[in-house]
Amino acid sequence: MNYKLTIKIVKDAAEFNKTCAEKIKEQIAKNPQSVLGLATGGTPVGVYKELVSMHKAGAVDFGGIKTFNLDEYYPIEKGNSQSYYTYMGENLFDHVNINKANTNIPSGEAKDPQAECDAYEEKITKAGGIDYQILGIGSNGHIGFNEPDDFFPDRTHFVDLNQKTIEDNARYFDSIDDVPKKAITMGIKTIMGAKKILLMATGAGKAGIIKEALFGNITPKVPASILQLHSDVTVVLDEAAAAEIKSSISNV
Ligand code: PGA
Repeated sequence: MNYKLTIKIVKDAAEFNKTCAEKIKEQIAKNPQSVLGLATGGTPVGVYKELVSMHKAGAVDFGGIKTFNLDEYYPIEKGNSQSYYTYMGENLFDHVNINKANTNIPSGEAKDPQAECDAYEEKITKAGGIDYQILGIGSNGHIGFNEPDDFFPDRTHFVDLNQKTIEDNARYFDSIDDVPKKAITMGIKTIMGAKKILLMATGAGKAGIIKEALFGNITPKVPASILQLHSDVTVVLDEAAAAEIKSSISNV
């Protein structure tokens, strides 16, 4: 099998944010009506900041853009400071000319989470699927909240968060007991249906899982490993996250 992923290693946070934001900007320039799949977490914060600067400088127009976020905690109120609804407003949507009616995030307030999953998936399908999907990676290999399992979850679904994810995300909450134990997330098939994917990772804490995901076996125990089968994935890593794949890359 030919190795399909394009891997770019950058030297520091500034170059990381610029490189990732430039790629998103190029997508928007190429198709100003793009459907973007968006991620939350620590990794994209600087990337969104860079996009906001680009927008303020007149270089990116979000006027025709539609977005679908990967996931949301459940249950969580939109107004909770740790909801991904709040995150997206604070980090991107409140600072650019996007039409909020064109932004979509699964609702952590839905009475019937399964119905919310089905409706969310249908909305993505109706929008024509995702043109450009942005992804972080969990230290356990998750993408979105597709946690390590015995199978690859298919479409948008209701999920129990993995203990590692709860521990990783506890840093954002007053106490680990405040981290919601469930979430709604796009499925692996939803993500793999995106025409293009940008996978982003920074820091030494991701070095091991990056090696497993990009060069290990394709297995639902490492959900991100499925990306090896997608035909258009660019991976942007800082030096620390790329530390364990240097030798593999020279063989690609
Ligand atoms: P992080 O999360 O960017 O906060 O490391 C990534 C993820 O869990 O997908």
